[in-house]
Order: sequence, then structure tokens, then C-alpha cells
Amino acid sequence: MRETIEISAAELDRQREYMRLVREMARRPEKYHIVTLGCQMNERDSETIAGMLTGMGMEPAPTREDADLVLYNTCCVRENAENRALGNVIWLKELKKDKQDMVICVGGCMTQEKGVAERMAQLYPFIDVIFGTHNMYRFPEYLYRALREKHPVAEVLDADGSIAEGLPERRNRDFAAFVNIMYGCNNFCSYCIVPYVRGRERSRAPEAIIDECLRLMDGGVQEIMLLGQNVNSYGGGGRAFAELLYRLDRLGIPRIRFMTSHPKDISDELIAAYGELKHLMPQLHLPVQAGNDEILRAMNRRYTREKYLETVRKLRKVCPEIGLTSDIIVGFPGETLEQFEDTMSLAREVRFDAAYTFIFSPRAGTRAAEMPDDTPYEEKSRRIQRLIDLQQRITLQILEKQVGRRETVLVESVSARDENSVGGKTPRGHMVNLPGDRGLIGKFVDVEITSAGRNTLRGKRI
Ligand code: SAH
Ligand code: SF4
Ligand code: F3S
Repeated sequence: MRETIEISAAELDRQREYMRLVREMARRPEKYHIVTLGCQMNERDSETIAGMLTGMGMEPAPTREDADLVLYNTCCVRENAENRALGNVIWLKELKKDKQDMVICVGGCMTQEKGVAERMAQLYPFIDVIFGTHNMYRFPEYLYRALREKHPVAEVLDADGSIAEGLPERRNRDFAAFVNIMYGCNNFCSYCIVPYVRGRERSRAPEAIIDECLRLMDGGVQEIMLLGQNVNSYGGGGRAFAELLYRLDRLGIPRIRFMTSHPKDISDELIAAYGELKHLMPQLHLPVQAGNDEILRAMNRRYTREKYLETVRKLRKVCPEIGLTSDIIVGFPGETLEQFEDTMSLAREVRFDAAYTFIFSPRAGTRAAEMPDDTPYEEKSRRIQRLIDLQQRITLQILEKQVGRRETVLVESVSARDENSVGGKTPRGHMVNLPGDRGLIGKFVDVEITSAGRNTLRGKRI
């Protein structure tokens, strides 16, 4: 394995000094608003950026219009993610016409893509700071330079493989937390751009993770979601991830979850952990992507349909109640109708609690983008619609089976439509709505499930 470089304490001190310099500037933004696109990685990164902006003396604003610094944390995993980011940035240009002092920053996976930052800087000179994923820790420096010189700063580093410990943070929620345990991905699934924009796999030291979890528990966190692009290859694969889970379980955090796992890295030790660990929730997001072996091979997934099904069987043997969810790609280049039927039959056989389905989106620089693809888009749409219909039926059946059960939910939020209704998850990860108010957020509540909707359950307190 390649060595991981930890960003030095001196460099982080330097960035803290830039935060102070911005804070003491006579004219600087007062209120920031961060728009986070993409996955939980980006959400966690946005919490770090929010911590930096807080260190620069700024306060969060509820909307972009209320802010004088707007930061986009972008995603490029599919084309529509990228279009959304660009559409937003162009919208900001209009906003900036009325608000001359508005500061616009763009970071994340899309700016890390080859050539994108340069192109953006040229096309959109109204963006003040452009940075990537590998140099996020230097954001304070870039912002300071942009503000002082009143000139855009665009810098993206190619060098990956570093970990920065001890960055500031301002977390979004105080009862649940994301904890990064590893960064990057070595898998190079042929359709996927993530390894190009997030760099190679590198894992944090277990002690650093444990310290962070202890600190979070002291602050009242009840649920921890361990994060990694390929979370179960933590520490280079094998049993290291399961060992980490055992250590974390002993800390006594009420609920532990993790994402996203790669099927090829599900070790027997990890499966056993589902039968043994008290705080590991009976839930696993295990993207299958396709149910046909030739397609799986073309995707470079490095497991077969049978291997995946075997993993599912083993998991259900030690933990019959485990809630499995998945990601599925439809219309991979060359996918025939027959091959697609294998995906349908796999979905029928496994019966996921939920599946996120995507039509293949070619990403420049990936191998699949070069593969011949003669299936018309309308046909791909038909296929995905069939899969969505099937999955909706299965989800509903699974949810209906929960009616009458007693569950403990961790309340997360107040319903957007009804302030006397709150929502929270069961151990298995099902969302339950129940009567209650804001005061319940972050609390465990025992409920009886009274009915099932399309994606959520309804319950009453017992
Ligand atoms: N690291 C995670 C998540 C990767 S991105 C994993 O390995 O599962 C999340 C999902 O987006 C993937 O699981 C995949 O289903 C989907 N995805 C990634 N690239 C895609 C592409 N080019 N077209 C369509 N879907 C894609
Ligand atoms: Fe992308 Fe595959 Fe890595 Fe997931 S495992 S991030 S799908 S390359
Ligand atoms: Fe998107 Fe980057 Fe996550 S590309 S899905 S935000 S790792």
C-alpha cells in the first residue's frame, strides 16, 4: 500500500493564521451559505468548511439571498449532478449583479475533475474561489488571497493521498454524526469518476477515529455513521474494518452505521459482527449495480451475481432482520434486454428494503464512456421504470410487514408539512412518522407501527 501523508501541524497552523487574517479584515463577508450537492462525503466536507468560515468570524445564513458568501460543494458522479451545479453557479451571477460584494466559492468533486477548474475560471470570472477535494484544507488561504487581492483564486492540486486531522468543524446535527474513516477509492469501476476526483484509498488511524467518536459521545451524539467511498476496505481490506467496529462497539455509542460498502470486501469477520455487536444497527447499504455476470465484469466490480447472493444469504443467517439497500445502474453500455432481466430477477430474489436506481451516465475519462452503447435512451427509461415499479412493490410489502411491530426510533426531524409530526429511524433504517414535536429530536422513542406508506411507516408512542 502507498504511504499516507498526514498534512503537517505547521500547515494547519498556517491555515488557522489565514482564518484569523480574514476574521480581522475590515471588509469581509459576514454571513455564509453552503450548498452541498452529492453524497455524505461532501456533506461531511461542508461541515469542515463551515467550521473554517466560523473561525473566520462568519455566521450561517438560511438562504443564498441572505448570505454574502455562497459556497458550492459540487458532485460530478452523473451528468445531471454536474448540470445542477453549473445551473446554480450561473444563477449566482445574476444575484451578484445586484449584490456586488457577494463572494462566490466553488469546491468539491466537480472542480477536482481534470480541466474543469481552468475552464470554470475562464468562463465564469465572477467566481471568487475555486478549489478541489485534495486542497480543501487550504480554503482559508485561498479566500484570504481572493478578498485581499480582489481577484479570483483558482487552485486544484493533483497530488492526492493526504489526510488532514484536526480541521475545524461545525456539525449540522448534534445527535447524529458522520465520521470519515477512510478517503478515496482504488476500485475503478469502469463507469465511475469517484477514484479520479477523490484519489487513492487512505485510512485514518483507529486512535484518531476513536478519539473523534469519544468526543462526539461527550457532546451527546447518539448515532454515528462511519463514512468511506469503500468503507469496508478500511485499513487495506481484510478484517481491519470489522476490528474497528468491535472497538467502536465497546465505546457504547448507542447506534453505529456505515456506508458505502463494496460487496467484494465483505469479510466473514464483518458478517459475524452483525450477529455479535450490540450497537451495530441491522442495516447495510450494499450496491450491487447489476445482476448479470458479463455486465458486472464489464463494470469491473470483481464479484459475480452468485457471490453477491451468497453474501446476502450469509448476512441474513446471522442477522435475519437485516435491512439491505442497494444502488443499481440500468443501461450500462451494451446491456441487452436479457442482461437487464437478470438485474430484475436479482432484485426479486434479494428483496431490498430500497434501491437507488440510475441510468448509466457516461463520465469523461472513465473506461465505460468509451464503450459502444447502442441502446436508445427511451429503452433505458423503460427498463429503469420497470425496475422502479418492481422495487416499489417490494418496498411496500416489506413496510407492510412491519405493521404491529414495536420499535425504538431515534427522532431526527420535524415534518415539513406538519409541525406536530416527527420522523425517526428504526434500527433497520425504516423511517417512521409519529405524533410529537421538536423537543423529541435526538431522543429515542418506543413506538408501535400502525401503518405503512410507500416509503415510510407511521407509528404511535407506547
Ligand atoms: N462508493 C460508493 C458510491 C459511489 S457513487 C459505491 O461504491 O457504491 C453512488 C452510486 O452512483 C453508485 O453506487 C452507482 O450506482 C452510481 N453511479 C456511479 N457512477 C455512475 C454513472 N457513471 N452512471 C450512473 N450511475 C453511476
Ligand atoms: Fe465508484 Fe466503484 Fe469506487 Fe464506488 S467502488 S466509488 S462505484 S469506483
Ligand atoms: Fe459526488 Fe463526489 Fe460523492 S462525485 S457522489 S460528491 S464523492
